[in-house]
Amino acid sequence: MEFSDLVTRRYSVRAYKPDAVPEEMLQKVLEAAQAAPTAANRQPFQIIVIHTAGRQAELSRLYHREWFRQAPVVIGICAVSGQAWTRRDGVNYAFVDATIAMDHLILAATDLGLGTCWVAAFDPAAARQLLGLPEGVEPVAFTPLGFPADTAGPKTRKALTELVRYERW
Ligand SMILES: Cc1cc2nc3c(=O)[nH]c(=O)nc-3n(C[C@H](O)[C@H](O)[C@H](O)COP(=O)(O)O)c2cc1C
Repeated sequence: MEFSDLVTRRYSVRAYKPDAVPEEMLQKVLEAAQAAPTAANRQPFQIIVIHTAGRQAELSRLYHREWFRQAPVVIGICAVSGQAWTRRDGVNYAFVDATIAMDHLILAATDLGLGTCWVAAFDPAAARQLLGLPEGVEPVAFTPLGFPADTAGPKTRKALTELVRYERW
């Protein structure tokens, strides 16, 4: 798919078919995340692939929306700040790196006809407990991964004139 089509076609899918995600597709989206750039190439993230079958009750504690656990797979991305590059003023880039990797994964999924939806409004304590996250590992975002059972609505975005400034603030 043309990149310009890809970015316009991606939308937040909030209804999924029960069909399984073929293993090759799963591998491809994971490889897209692996290919993402990270600060100083530290790759300070871990991806957690969760097969939803039989885990619906657990997943509803993580994020309550029904569509979240409707997809056959949920993917979580975690930042490992102790492995990340840190700017001289102390700003740690683990979240940025993890977010870029997740975006690569999401765009690759769109390219394959799979649906995704960024989820940040999850319960972090439930995520820690259900996924057994150790200290120093922060869940950043989740997405269901599956075939869409809805269609895209209109994209509402601010005008570029509201989003872009040239040369200075
Ligand atoms: C960082 C981030 C967190 C988000 N968290 C949620 C969420 O918790 N629940 C949800 O339904 N949508 C969530 N979204 C989806 C946004 O609502 C959606 O991307 C936005 O409204 C634009 O719509 P579109 O993705 O269909 O283009 C999130 C998106 C981003 C980028």
